[in-house]
Amino acid sequence: MTTERTACGAVRLGDAGGRITVYGWVDRRRDHGGLTFIDLRDRSGSLQLVFNPATAPEAHAAAHQTRLEYVLRAAGVVRPREPENVNPRLDTGEVELHVDACEVLAAARTPPFAVNEEGEVEERLRLQYRYLDLRRPRLQRNLRRRARFIAGLRRAMDGMGFVEIETPMLIRATPEGARDYLVPSRISHGSFYALPQSPQLYKQLCMVAGLDRYYQIARCMRDEDLRADRQPEFTQLDVEMSFVEEEDVFAALEQAISSAWREAEFRSGIVTPFPRMTWHAAMERYGVDKPDTRFGLELHDLTEAVRGSGFGVFAKAVQAGGVVKGIALPGGAEMSRGEIEGELTEVVRALGAKGLAYLWRRAEGWQSGIAKFFSDAELEAIGGATGAGVGDAVLMVADRAAVVAASLGALRNHLGRKRSLYDRERIDMLWITDFPMFERDQQTGQLAPLHHPFTMLHADDVDLLETDPLRVRSRAYDIVLNGREIGSGSIRITRPDVQERVFQTLGIEREEARRKFGFLLEAFEYGVPPHGGFAAGIERLLMEGMGEENIREVIAFPKNQQAQEVMTGAPAPVDDAQLRELGLKLLQPPPT
Ligand code: AMO
Ligand code: AMP
Repeated sequence: MTTERTACGAVRLGDAGGRITVYGWVDRRRDHGGLTFIDLRDRSGSLQLVFNPATAPEAHAAAHQTRLEYVLRAAGVVRPREPENVNPRLDTGEVELHVDACEVLAAARTPPFAVNEEGEVEERLRLQYRYLDLRRPRLQRNLRRRARFIAGLRRAMDGMGFVEIETPMLIRATPEGARDYLVPSRISHGSFYALPQSPQLYKQLCMVAGLDRYYQIARCMRDEDLRADRQPEFTQLDVEMSFVEEEDVFAALEQAISSAWREAEFRSGIVTPFPRMTWHAAMERYGVDKPDTRFGLELHDLTEAVRGSGFGVFAKAVQAGGVVKGIALPGGAEMSRGEIEGELTEVVRALGAKGLAYLWRRAEGWQSGIAKFFSDAELEAIGGATGAGVGDAVLMVADRAAVVAASLGALRNHLGRKRSLYDRERIDMLWITDFPMFERDQQTGQLAPLHHPFTMLHADDVDLLETDPLRVRSRAYDIVLNGREIGSGSIRITRPDVQERVFQTLGIEREEARRKFGFLLEAFEYGVPPHGGFAAGIERLLMEGMGEENIREVIAFPKNQQAQEVMTGAPAPVDDAQLRELGLKLLQPPPT
């Protein structure tokens, strides 16, 4: 016989008169007028139980000894509440259960924080007692919506004819560019597996294998510095397709994400197809490769307008081959000097700018300490280029193009957030295309792939590979959602000669390439279909879909900022015997 059970949150007026059994946790308990009232909570919601010592003395006695978070089974008859006791804020607020049989299934210690309230609780406690935090409505709701979103992704991918394939977790390192988590081998001392940073190489091998359309809800592990949208373990919707161009990949991803988004009932609708913007346009207009397009405040080039000006800072920067750009802040003429020279200047300095120049445009004319250095024509040109009207301020940076873009891009995001320049409910999906193939590592001076070394080059740019590699565009693309990168992918290199030239440009010797990716290059010699793919960060999609600011709110058992899982205490030292078996010896004994 299966358990007879009614969900607490599902009981309604129509059930009045019926006999039911409910199971759950004590959410609240009140004694008055001789009666005991318990709100019993399960995953569906809560139901008011009434215990009457006159009619059900044993049940009442059992109820009387319970405390918060005790686990109960209660049976009785559903009754309408007295009109004055109806609680319209509760789905079950019109009824109550008159309990005649009650069993305490488990006692509970006093929880370290209130489980029955949504209130703020210190992060450390939430993670240490994650199972209690998970009992609370916010995470219950988030995890259920996460499951629905992922089920929606699976349904959509399946519907489009993709095959879900699980790739291994103990692998050779993949080239995603983060630090690997390593796993020592017991059988081959001195050798290590890497945990996958992504299934990149396996999914490409699936294409060689003729699987044609691969996908996976893939767990990925990267040892990198954590942030509000970065965890050491995360999940991707990972996709690879054969015989495709960009458009095919775009269409598949748009279909999967938008239909799962609807199934999970995430905020606002998503409009497909997603708008597109080239990387170059994004950098020019927004200063960053993941623009938040929910608000304007675009960057405008003022280099020509100020080239001959008497403001030495600008003139020098332009002479040195730099640029001057500015943004017009509506209402900025009201801003104090202190605010611009303090807070806003800090924002641009943090990204390498030497300062933040500004002009107020007021009814009396252009003002600020530097206005006197510009001719009327120059001021007019600055106003024209930026679109600044009376009442606005123009904020400007002069420097190398990269510094100007990064610092004004950050300033723009700062102002957007601080001045609430966008509708918080809005969802802006955007494809960024035509990324450069390479960037120069500021520390080492080496060329590095912006995406990964298997990314195909733009057909028109292949000949720049040896002469001007920084100008080579790739066939990589990202999806940006409200200013956050939520996924990326590319059409891959499948021509050995092109792959060879890319490795050469990157300074990867043939020998090294063979050693690291030989299996992939060899596989390509056996008939490789042209292919391309994508990986979307599922947690980042969930964060935006549910309006959560921190990735931990969409993961059941996340790690803290130090990559620790504090509930179980991972990572943890292991005993010497285990190390010996692995052939390992620590350089320093672990701190006690
Ligand atoms: P990429 O490295 O850009 O591409 O990763 C794809 C997406 O995964 C998400 N992501 C993360 N989310 C949470 N925490 C992290 N530490 C983290 N790192 C990445 C981001 C990111 O956009 N194999 C390629 C894809 C391909 O070429 O097909 C890849 O993994 O949302
Ligand atoms: P200074 O000439 O250093 O006194 O700077 C005059 C103003 O120009 C100050 O508001 C500085 O913040 C600003 N400034 C200095 N260097 C730059 C720069 N490279 N770009 C934009 N503004 C700058």
